[in-house]
Parts: sequence; structure tokens; C-alpha cells
Amino acid sequence: MNILLIGSGGREHALAWKMAASPLVDVVHCAPGNPGMDAVGPCFDVAADDVDGLVKLALQVEPDLVVIGPEAPLALGLSDILRARGFDVFGPSKAAAQLEASKAFSKARMVKYGVPTAAYGEFTEAGPAKAFLKKMQAPYVLKADGLAAGKGVVIAETLAEAEAEVDEMLSGKFGSASATLVIEEFMHGEEASVFVITDGVGAVYLPAAQDHKRVGDGDTGPNTGGMGAYAPAPVVSTEIMERVKREIAQPMLKGMAKDGMPYQGALYIGIMVTPEGPKVVEFNARFGDPECQVLMKGLTGDIVPLILIAATGGLKGSEKDFERLLELEAFRPTASVVMAAKGYPGSYDKGSVIEGVDAANALPGVTVFHAGTDIAPGHKLVAKGGRVLNVTASGATLKEAVERAYAGVDAIGWPEGFCRRDIGWRALKD
Ligand code: AMP
Ligand code: GLY
Repeated sequence: MNILLIGSGGREHALAWKMAASPLVDVVHCAPGNPGMDAVGPCFDVAADDVDGLVKLALQVEPDLVVIGPEAPLALGLSDILRARGFDVFGPSKAAAQLEASKAFSKARMVKYGVPTAAYGEFTEAGPAKAFLKKMQAPYVLKADGLAAGKGVVIAETLAEAEAEVDEMLSGKFGSASATLVIEEFMHGEEASVFVITDGVGAVYLPAAQDHKRVGDGDTGPNTGGMGAYAPAPVVSTEIMERVKREIAQPMLKGMAKDGMPYQGALYIGIMVTPEGPKVVEFNARFGDPECQVLMKGLTGDIVPLILIAATGGLKGSEKDFERLLELEAFRPTASVVMAAKGYPGSYDKGSVIEGVDAANALPGVTVFHAGTDIAPGHKLVAKGGRVLNVTASGATLKEAVERAYAGVDAIGWPEGFCRRDIGWRALKD
């Protein structure tokens, strides 16, 4: 089988690596890919948001399956365009991808389908937004409606800060993404991510993961795209997982299908485990990054049959068979540590040389996924992004997985990089 994978981050490197290991797969073409993916399959220099270029590339390489990694092409409708051309695609339609691309859309769907989430209001004008804030309690949660590279959520401690934020957002702080604003109730609890792979009707659930969004140890400092992750996350007990399925995933999938927007692909359910049970923080229309790296590394079975049936339909009733092929029961505790360029999530330099990736990969249980690397003249591996490497490791226990991942980090020579030293702390604290 011939796969075309869209994207260039650590998430896509992990997907390429996992899919290429399947006996069903002959080649994984990547667009645009990265130096790590280059070692897995041929990379083509077409950007993940260049819809016309990607359609042309698909017509050229004639894949049996297209897998879309990031949200940007999904929001642009790449799945619909490729499906109209006869390709099988893993990734939701433009309509269904609004669950991520528009927070107002997503909240309205949750309310319509009775899915537990924070109470909210939706605003395009400052007056009503500020009147709504006065009725809420601190801290105040303000969200840009549209895609803002993970930066569109502001948590304000005081009413004055929240009111100032309303003015900034509505006057274009996040461009057109914040022309509409969602203000919601603050939820207390512990966050986790649940991933559902679905053809719109049937659903297979992967082990719950936990991401570390803040830049600093102890979950301090500004928010990032994610500084590390691990799975399984013990905060999602069997009972919580059952509630996520019954109270969140199933009503969403049913509702979306009934309303003519069946959701196909990977659905990321960001939850807050509150004293009343799991509530939705957000949906994403794709795998999480770096959660995907953890899941692909920890799964010992084959994921390609599941991805294929999610794209083509017919999963309902056969979920158990696909769980067996995935070897879901044998999932290995896994952690991923993000190595980022010093300065991230603020400004950072590009072009510093990275050494020791091969040495890290040679350590027991370790796989290094590339997220923001490049090859400079002289075949040197250099940094070209904020989040640069994802040092990922499995072990018999989460403790061993974390120790192995940090042994991998310590084998890498990159003085211009940094990482958190406490990935997995919530699960390891007892
Ligand atoms: P989002 O992009 O919607 O996931 O929001 C980014 C982060 O802000 C989340 O991962 C949470 O840590 C936090 N957050 C968002 N919404 C809420 C909420 N209603 N209550 C508490 N924290 C929230
Ligand atoms: N790790 C968070 C995200 O992918 O949105």
C-alpha cells in the first residue's frame, strides 16, 4: 500500500514511522516532511497548506490512502477536495473540522448534543462581552474563535485584565481569528487528552495521554504547543474513560452524523476531570502533538488497518478486531520529552547544530522524532523551529520510560536547546 502523509512535525514523523512499520505498507510519501521523515519515505517540497500543490502531488503519486496530520489543511477543506477526486482520506471534512477551527461552532455543538463543557457566551462586540464578564467569577477564560496556533486562549485573573483583553482581541490581537470571542466559565481539575479514531459511526479509543503545556518545570510559565507528554494517564480511570465515551464522544459523533457532518479521522478530546466528572476543554480535529508521538511509540500492534477503515467506513461492530490488531491491551507506558530552542515560546535563534541523535536512538526503548530540524550544508542537522526534537521512550513502567527518555536527551549535544526535566510528574508523584 502507498500512503501520502501531509505535515512536517513530530506528530507526522511518528505517524510516518509507525505506518511504515506495517506489513501492509510499501511506501509512505511525505509532504513536506522533515529530515527525520526523509529516512522513512520520500519527502516532497509541498507545504501542508498548499491545497492545489497537494492535490497535484496526490495525482502524481496516486496514494491508496492520504493521511492529514495538521489542522491547517483540514480547515481549508483538503479532505473534501481529495475525496471528490476519488482518494481515500484519513481526516475530517472542512465542516466537521470546525470542531477545532471555530470555538463558537464547537461550543454550540456541545450544547446542542448535551455534552458537558464550561458555560459560555459568544461575542463580536465589546459591550455585551463586558456585561457577560461581570456575571462571571475570576479567573476569566477568553478564547479567540479561530485558529491561533495554540495561543488564542487567555486566562485573566482580574476583571480589569479580562476587560482589556476583550478590547485587544476584538480589535485584532489574533487577526480575524479573534473577530469572534468565546468567554467561558473556569473549570477546576486535571486535564487529559483522549483520542478517538472513527469513521463517523464506529469508534476505537486510544489510551488517554497527558500533555505538559507550560514551558517550565512544575507547570509554570507561559503556555506552549506542548513540552512533553505521556500515556497512559492514570487520571483517566476506567470509569472516567467510560464516561468520556458515553457522555462526550458518542453524542458528538452521533450528532455530527445526524446533522450531515460525519466526523472521520482522529478526534482529540481535551478534557478537564472535574469533581462532577469529565468536561470538554476543547476538541481538535487531529492527533495531539506531542501526544501522538507517545501513542505511536507505545502501541505495539498495527495501526494502518484502523486508519484505513476510518477513512473508508465500516468500523461499527468490528471495533474489537481493530483493537486486537493494535494490541491495545499491550500498550507500553511511554513518555516524550520535547527539546526546544532556548527562548521558545518567545523568539529564538535558528541554525544551531545538533549532535548525538543517532546515539540517542541507539539507547534501549528510545526513538527521537524530528519536529523542527533541517539539514545544513555539510549534512549537519540544525534547529529550524521552536520545538525541535521529541525524545520518546517506552518502558516496562512509566518511571522507566521517563528515565529512558531523559537518557536519550542527555545523549544529545545541543547547547542551544532546553527541555523540561519533570515530564510525567503527576503520574509519578505517588
Ligand atoms: P484550549 O486551546 O481551549 O485547549 O485552551 C488552552 C488551555 O487553557 C487549556 O489546555 C487549559 O489549560 C486552559 N483552559 C481552556 N479553557 C479552560 C476552562 N474553561 N477552564 C480552565 N482552563 C481552561
Ligand atoms: N498537545 C496539544 C495539541 O496538540 O493541541
